[in-house]
Amino acid sequence: MKKIIALVLLCLLIPLLVYSATIPSKRVLVVYYSRTGHNQLVAEALANKFNADLERLIDRKKRTGLFAFFIAGKDANTKQIGNIEPLKLNPKDYDTILIGGPAWNGHITPAVRAFLVRNDLSGKKIGLFGSCHFIGVEDALKEAAGLIYGAGNKKFPTLALKEEELKQETLTKKIDAFYSAMQYSE
Ligand SMILES: Cc1cc2nc3c(=O)[nH]c(=O)nc-3n(C[C@H](O)[C@H](O)[C@H](O)COP(=O)(O)O)c2cc1C
Repeated sequence: MKKIIALVLLCLLIPLLVYSATIPSKRVLVVYYSRTGHNQLVAEALANKFNADLERLIDRKKRTGLFAFFIAGKDANTKQIGNIEPLKLNPKDYDTILIGGPAWNGHITPAVRAFLVRNDLSGKKIGLFGSCHFIGVEDALKEAAGLIYGAGNKKFPTLALKEEELKQETLTKKIDAFYSAMQYSE
């Protein structure tokens, strides 16, 4: 009798295991631009928390040096669409996409703009993050939200950081709150 019960249980268990192994798990992608490393730090911490893949946006335009700094500000103000290197990963393969970068004069960077306008993100669960020195990141994240195709007036969870908040303990708390907000967002 015991053998029969064991056999029946095994017959039920095997299809269940096969089924669960073939269901694709919800995939998360963190896409970011970072000129001086702050958003890279945040993106890596997010990738760790969300068990996500990472895609760094590379702007082909020179963005280092004093002159380039001023040009970067002008490009952000005039809403330039950056010339970025091809992506290594395909956003279409992901259910959730977290997009981030620095605020430049209260705007998103040309690289992030290029990603947002060139990718159809409708139907994706989106989260936005970014950093600034003192002021402007909230405006930049609002601008990003407005560019997301198919978003309408939808609000996305955001993680807006000032550089002083990038210390381990504060950052962990803020990322935890962002993580919870993402669980409840559509
Ligand atoms: C062109 C340019 C414009 C910027 N404008 C602002 C700004 O308006 N307000 C602010 O607080 N920080 C501003 N910053 C600072 C960056 O937003 C901040 O250092 C950010 O954390 C950098 O992120 P990253 O290291 O990932 O590039 C600006 C930086 C650059 C290069």
